Amino acid sequence: MTSVHADVGEVLIDEDVLRARVEELGAEISADYEGRDLLLVGVLKGAVMVMADLARVLHSQVTMDWMAVSSYGMGTKSSGVVRILKDLDTDITNRHVLVVEDIIDTGLTLSWLVSNLSSRGPASVEICTLLRKPEALQMAVDVRYVGHDIPNEFVVGYGLDYAERYRNLRCIGTLAPHVYS
Ligand code: IMP
Ligand code: MG
Repeated sequence: MTSVHADVGEVLIDEDVLRARVEELGAEISADYEGRDLLLVGVLKGAVMVMADLARVLHSQVTMDWMAVSSYGMGTKSSGVVRILKDLDTDITNRHVLVVEDIIDTGLTLSWLVSNLSSRGPASVEICTLLRKPEALQMAVDVRYVGHDIPNEFVVGYGLDYAERYRNLRCIGTLAPHVYS
């Protein structure tokens, strides 16, 4: 097997910084949702790592569910077409929903997802994303919790993939140019 680090160009956010920031977000979310029942909705597959780490730093009982949507295919550019590959198992009527996402790039996926979830009659829908790229700032997506703003580069690791690989990298990094050629 090839080392998971072999194709990394530059490390943008290392493991310790990721952990520290997730802990901060967890403290903020715990305080904001105190006394309320929270449903975490992870967006497969990229959000698995942040969901696992975030859920474990929250102080209160939560429930967790997952959705899978597709907007990228195998490439690195958003197609703008969102399809539900796996829907929630949970009825979210009157529930407080926090969508946990790996990254907001154009914001297309999340704005679509939030309007889809909002149409199901939840008590509230908020977004927590580990990463956000500058382009997302131009979109009308109201993101309550952001881990890190990053430059407009394609990144992998901590759940994020390129052609389904590098999700198990512990840091967030760019890929070396030879990977794309
Ligand atoms: P958006 O619809 O453009 O905001 O794209 C959101 C989705 O595209 C994310 O949930 C990721 O799955 C994927 N994505 C966007 N940027 C990157 C990246 O830099 N690396 C890996 N996946 C990305
Ligand atoms: Mg994703």
